[in-house]
Amino acid sequence: MHFLREKFEKHVAATSSSPMGIAIERAEGLWLYGIDGKRYLDMIAGIAVSNLGHSHPAIVAAVQAQVARYMHLMVYGELIQEPQVDLADLLCQHLPPVLSSVYFVNSGTEAVEGALKLAKRVTGRQEIVCCNNAYHGCTHGSMSLIGSQEYHEAFAPLLPQVRRVRFGVLEDLEQITSRTACFITELVQGEAGVRTASPEYWQAARTRCNETGTLFIADEIQTGIGRTGKLFAFEHYNIVPDILVLAKALGGGMPVGAFIASREQMLALTHHPMLGHMTTFGGHPVCCAAALAHLQIITRQQYWKQVDRLGKQLKNVLQKYPGVREIRQIGLMLAVDFKDETTAMTAYKTWLDRGIFIDWFLFCPTALRIAPPLIINEDDIQEFEQRIYEK
Ligand SMILES: Cc1ncc(COP(=O)(O)O)c(C=O)c1O
Repeated sequence: MHFLREKFEKHVAATSSSPMGIAIERAEGLWLYGIDGKRYLDMIAGIAVSNLGHSHPAIVAAVQAQVARYMHLMVYGELIQEPQVDLADLLCQHLPPVLSSVYFVNSGTEAVEGALKLAKRVTGRQEIVCCNNAYHGCTHGSMSLIGSQEYHEAFAPLLPQVRRVRFGVLEDLEQITSRTACFITELVQGEAGVRTASPEYWQAARTRCNETGTLFIADEIQTGIGRTGKLFAFEHYNIVPDILVLAKALGGGMPVGAFIASREQMLALTHHPMLGHMTTFGGHPVCCAAALAHLQIITRQQYWKQVDRLGKQLKNVLQKYPGVREIRQIGLMLAVDFKDETTAMTAYKTWLDRGIFIDWFLFCPTALRIAPPLIINEDDIQEFEQRIYEK
């Protein structure tokens, strides 16, 4: 253990000055097991990834079977690979008919990049409109949309012609014009600390995009595949995006991202220049096999139907915790907002100490993130309650 930590600190690149640094032996269901024997209730699911918990037997079996059959063959888009085709087909069966063509990539940020490029090609325009406090990923294009001046200054120059509007504010939609290629937004802002907008806002945004010929890109990387209580969050608002962006939970624990549009629009990436977007590993057969097994279970059992009830139970449990000011919740996506940063940090440390694995948000320092696997049940919530209120 001692040597493992030493090597971690020496050779694995750090992203912050104080990493959690817990060495994990294995993970199963809702539990992470440390190599020191301590176990943790996973209340973040690898940040909205492991919907069916860890090491789900059907996903493990699908991965093992695919590994034995074939792994990497050739860059994306050339060969017909069954797990990839079946995954695209199953996704499209659960989407409105216009979202009929799936481009698989490796991650969320890469899916955002693909979506932005597609919008530019389809519209012949360059301007992008995004929202304050948005998070769309960490590559240069995605980071151009990030709602933080500090990141912009640190990595300038970023993409030009990016216009930022206030999330959820109707009058700001007028800034989407006939010069705008796309309006890109999360449907529930994640890193801003679980912020929703009204159905009227989303319908007005859809209408404004239609009026101006702007493509509506819904970044459902965090909200997609059941987390908010619908398979896709746009279903809450009775709108259909032009481009849907998925990742995180899509892969069932393996890295897969996707941007999805109409077949007609997607064809824009095949000419002038051809190969308008390329990837060596995007849609990797092993990742697609895992994603397919995961999506089959989620859609067969319609897990999203229980998500809001469980989210509300968690909200009730958390509401009486000392120092909690507000809880924002949609499905199993919760922000527990404390009266100040210090109280939030104290709760974080106390809970971690008591074997509760949670996380915070990029743009909401007073809040803690709760986003457990969708398979969480009443007993798990009771265990969570006992641990956080332990005397
Ligand atoms: C809404 C949203 N978009 C994009 C991303 C980036 O995804 P990835 O980390 O897979 O690149 C994230 C990741 O947290 C996200 O929450």
